Amino acid sequence: MEKKKGRFELQKMKDAKQKAVWITAYDYWTAQFAEKVGVDMILVGDSLGMCVYGYEGTIPVTMEQCICHCEAVRRAAPNTFVVGDMPFLSYQVNDDDAVRNAGRFFKEASVDAIKLEGGRRVISRIRAIADGGMLVIGHIGLTPQSSGQLGGFKAQGRTAETAMELIEDAKAIQEAGAFALLVEAVPPEVCKIIRDALTIPVYSIGAGVDADGQLMIVSDVLGIFQAFTPKFVKRYANLAEEIVRALASYSEDVRKGAFPEPVHCYKMVEGELPKLEKALKGK
Ligand code: KIV
Repeated sequence: MEKKKGRFELQKMKDAKQKAVWITAYDYWTAQFAEKVGVDMILVGDSLGMCVYGYEGTIPVTMEQCICHCEAVRRAAPNTFVVGDMPFLSYQVNDDDAVRNAGRFFKEASVDAIKLEGGRRVISRIRAIADGGMLVIGHIGLTPQSSGQLGGFKAQGRTAETAMELIEDAKAIQEAGAFALLVEAVPPEVCKIIRDALTIPVYSIGAGVDADGQLMIVSDVLGIFQAFTPKFVKRYANLAEEIVRALASYSEDVRKGAFPEPVHCYKMVEGELPKLEKALKGK
């Protein structure tokens, strides 16, 4: 088994131009498979609101839900760099809240880092958490927790002016002490400029190939999440079809009495059934 990576290994990967593989996981079995194939990082994203709980967005997700899923993932992937995602209102109010809630991820779920959304407006939060000795990843571009303000789940930084804002956000996040940055749903040219301008690793989700690594949502990669598919998603399997097929076959077998078969049943101890029948007759 490969040694677990930490921030310095991730930094070395950027410096050596080696791409990091990053994927979300929300539960024990997915995280086990992710560790088995040797992904570099796992994000327990607040996208669990949509992918696990069926909410329309990430706003209802709570600290308790995030911690609980981080714990399951950590148990399944003890040798992988796990990132906890700070949910809406766990850091927006003030720096003290942000530090306390970030700390819960480390104390209760043994994550390696936390991620939070926003540019210059969350700089004091990033600084406070980093000053608390915790590893922080910034997240700019399409930031789902503020999708209302952004006018929906839309690509960002498509004009020179808005791209410039993102570049300034990225530099401020690095300066505040984040050890890495995630850029979401931004044109590849803009992500490349950010990657080249920063010394810390810059990861992309929907921001093109010129980044230090890629993040994808596991439910999209596996073809389980059905509500919508962003343009930047590539499906590597269609598990939804496979799951529906399996559940339909199971239902059919139960209804027609084809399941369970003798092979799925426990046998009585030899000679015990006649004894039972005799005892029942004597009643
Ligand atoms: O919650 C999540 O999975 C995320 C990604 C959309 C970047 O933050």
